Amino acid sequence: MFSLAVFVSGRGSNLNSILNAPKLRNLIEVKAVVSNKADCQAFDIAKNHFIPVYNVGYKEGFLSFDELGNLFYSLKIDLIVLAGFLKLIPDSFVKSFKNKIINIHPALLPSFGGNGMYGMNVHKAVFDASAQISGASVHFVDETYDTGKIIAQRCVDISDAQSHEELAERVLKIEHQLLPFVIEKFALGKVFVDKTRVRVLN
Ligand code: GRF
Repeated sequence: MFSLAVFVSGRGSNLNSILNAPKLRNLIEVKAVVSNKADCQAFDIAKNHFIPVYNVGYKEGFLSFDELGNLFYSLKIDLIVLAGFLKLIPDSFVKSFKNKIINIHPALLPSFGGNGMYGMNVHKAVFDASAQISGASVHFVDETYDTGKIIAQRCVDISDAQSHEELAERVLKIEHQLLPFVIEKFALGKVFVDKTRVRVLN
């Protein structure tokens, strides 16, 4: 089985999409769900699936990123998936897990990313710019927000969207397809990184 750790900070609908994707059922195992929040809705989803949950950060009783890294080595984690995780990952952790951390972003990068561009802020910026398409991007995590190489994207027509909330709903549907798709490709060994581009084989 291909082993995952999933990082979350809130609702957990992307975690849910991973756990319920038919194609991932016999391919992956989520061995840890990690949050910077003491508790969040996503933890309930993890617990319902009997997946161990952990806290990471600088608060008392939380694991440090170093401790978490050691845990991941012992669990033999193959891929770390940030699914709505709102903290920047420290450089040392990124270096230790080079090309093994991916993030889903609810817009078409490299536009509408960066510090402060999360949740509804993203959709509001896209709506206010009068963009006619939006979508979701899955990318490698590097040392800064949303700048790592893009692995896969899907777009959605938003030319008739009436509000940024409506836009968010449309993008979320795409996210729930895109993230399991990318994880499946990793699990099947079909993601390659060359000097300039990421290649995902059919
Ligand atoms: C998603 O839109 C994801 O792209 C973004 O944060 C949101 C998390 O939603 N990074 P959920 O917690 O997976 O429901």
